[in-house]
Amino acid sequence: MVLTKFMDHSMLPEKYKSMNHEEMEARIREIKQKLGDELFIPGHHYQRDEVIQFADTTGDSLQLAQVAAANKKAKHIVFCGVHFMAETADMLTDEHQVVYLPDMRAGCSMADMANIYQTEEAWVELQKLFGDTMIPLTYVNSTAAIKAFTGRNGGACVTSSNAKSMVKWAFTQKQRLLFLPDQHLGRNTAFDLGVPLEQMAVWDPIKGQLEYDGNLEDIKVILWKGHCSVHEGFTIYNIREVRKKYPDMKIIVHPECSREVVALSDDNGSTKYICDVIDNAPAHSSWAIGTEMNLVKRLIAKYPDKHIISLNENMCPCLTMNRIDLPHLLWALEMIENGEQGNIIQVDSETTKEALLSLERMLARA
Ligand code: 13P
Ligand code: SF4
Repeated sequence: MVLTKFMDHSMLPEKYKSMNHEEMEARIREIKQKLGDELFIPGHHYQRDEVIQFADTTGDSLQLAQVAAANKKAKHIVFCGVHFMAETADMLTDEHQVVYLPDMRAGCSMADMANIYQTEEAWVELQKLFGDTMIPLTYVNSTAAIKAFTGRNGGACVTSSNAKSMVKWAFTQKQRLLFLPDQHLGRNTAFDLGVPLEQMAVWDPIKGQLEYDGNLEDIKVILWKGHCSVHEGFTIYNIREVRKKYPDMKIIVHPECSREVVALSDDNGSTKYICDVIDNAPAHSSWAIGTEMNLVKRLIAKYPDKHIISLNENMCPCLTMNRIDLPHLLWALEMIENGEQGNIIQVDSETTKEALLSLERMLARA
């Protein structure tokens, strides 16, 4: 079964490599002006500044899914984010709306840590151990096929901003849950809701086995052994260094960071939550932020009256988010202008139907 139809002009044409920024910006403005409401550009908080300046709306994964679902006007949705976000937007929009990803190589290394074959296999094996006592919850950072698996098994999607309410809901449905693919978001969320770490097991999709020492009956949460390579780059060593150097500094991190890092921080939440906290913080307050660098740098520039640093000064941006740049954005827009069918994200209808069950269960509670 073909899950996502790629009409991929995979290589950026040479002409965009020789254009300067001013020329590209002028062309993008011109095309935006020409297409008006027919064009909509959502941009995730982790996108580069050069791209964010052209976004019609910016937000975290949940907000971008909500705006995609609400927009019935735009014919062309050029998604400045990563592949799973564009797939989600395609599934939540109408037939006549087309979603484009400016660079088809903009994936997510965490989403790549769970494929549908591993997921189906895990479910079969876990059912042998736990019977019909589990519900799947998938982070939106997952393929459309996994969202469809989740939908047909009675589960729902979650994002980092609604994970708590979705985990609470899941426990009203079944005795235990399979949370995938981010073990850290799953562990941090369940722990905050009072599930002790001893009642959480880890499913290793590479070995095809459950990592757990105690009595199987005690397990409440099964965490998929996946992670975000960006957020795993924040460590307790970074926290100790910041505490030593800036004793009054507050530390806020994304819940994709490890349990140890979240536990030692002052606060944690989704990208939107982090933006809101910094926005509402008093002038002269000081903050170390543990999330992706494009966002941290933007917050540093936006609030010169606050002292903001990255929790890890050597952190790089998310490489896949960073693939969307000015040349790729202009290329996508020129393809639309010229009526070319390029870089379109289109999930097949069978997958969409089941994946919508899991997305809609989430959006109904968001
Ligand atoms: P949120 O935008 O939901 O905070 O997620 C962060 C992220 O890693 C997106 O890939
Ligand atoms: Fe994926 Fe992490 Fe990049 Fe988000 S920051 S897109 S989770 S690799």
